[in-house]
Amino acid sequence: MRVLLTGGAGYIGSHTAVSLLEAGHDVIVLDNLSNSSPESLRRVQRITGHEVPLIIGDCTRQEDLEKAFQCGSRIDAVIHFAGLKAVGESVSMPLDYYSNNLDATFSLLRVMKKNGCGAIVFSSSATVYGTNETMPLREDFPTGCTNPYGWTKWMNERVLTDCAHADPELRVVILRYFNPVGAHPSGEIGEDPNGIPNNLMPYVCQFASGKLKTFTVNGNDYPTRDGTCIRDFIHVCDLAEGHVSALAYAAEHRGAEVFNLGTGNGYSVLEIVHAFEKANGLELPFRFGPRRAGDIAVCYANPEKAERVLHWHAKRGLEEMCRDAWHWQTKNPNGFRGAQ
Ligand code: UD1
Repeated sequence: MRVLLTGGAGYIGSHTAVSLLEAGHDVIVLDNLSNSSPESLRRVQRITGHEVPLIIGDCTRQEDLEKAFQCGSRIDAVIHFAGLKAVGESVSMPLDYYSNNLDATFSLLRVMKKNGCGAIVFSSSATVYGTNETMPLREDFPTGCTNPYGWTKWMNERVLTDCAHADPELRVVILRYFNPVGAHPSGEIGEDPNGIPNNLMPYVCQFASGKLKTFTVNGNDYPTRDGTCIRDFIHVCDLAEGHVSALAYAAEHRGAEVFNLGTGNGYSVLEIVHAFEKANGLELPFRFGPRRAGDIAVCYANPEKAERVLHWHAKRGLEEMCRDAWHWQTKNPNGFRGAQ
């Protein structure tokens, strides 16, 4: 298939581009580069030997989307990664989040329809399960969010589902990501956050490298086995492969279907810290601090539906996640900036 990746120069998009190319698909990327670098796609080419055409443009603008659809041969499917994704920022700039993340989907669906493209895979998030306390989380559990970023994922799921019900030609797969970490084992591509990272693994990497001077574990009084939060960390290459399976499913099935992409294993923040130390022969002298606002104690997936229907499951373990994350960090201390 020929697949358009919106936001394909980013962390998950670039890893998915590698998996798609390795599976024999053709890839084209539309990205406004607001939180990504074109260098990631040059690295994808280095890994796979395939060039990835990049259209620099914004997914909210139909004319930019048209440029992507007019570039080369027919696009069979879209994987829609593009979007703003910082939880804290979404609380202070809700209108930007709602308008950007929803407009992108509206424009995309219109341009897809106009160009006779009927398959879309959407990047959603486990954040749509809100404050559910029953674990592991299953796709049919109640949803609801605690911040505007999460609501944009929730609303986009709604929009896509309604459109799939109305249009018999539309095939929608919604993927709810848990906590993607790690990097391609080549160390060529990985997570490259702007400024001080919010998420645990990129923070740990920058702390271990000496770039950040202190590392605080946010809260040790949660009702968990060691008092720290529990998450379902998944290797980004496993997540990327989940998209290849989702695409095969979208090509064949009408309507809208939702899948968790997680491992089904919950690891605590402390377990991650210790696994990182062990995998990389390092020490991480952390301190405990207060809870981070908005954090829930435990969140991990029931991944059975993806296994049963998509024939996909995560294969890589915690050690690989920690090793590959650190390999990327040491090989690219400044991310893609200053890359050669
Ligand atoms: C966060 C987002 C979620 C998004 C996901 C993408 C929030 C509240 N949620 O999930 O919407 O989909 O990233 O991967 O931001 N931690 C520390 N010290 C640090 C950094 C993090 O102890 O320096 C802790 C956090 O408090 C949390 C755990 O590590 O308990 C995981 O945090 P993070 O990596 O930000 O992921 P989520 O909060 O699960």
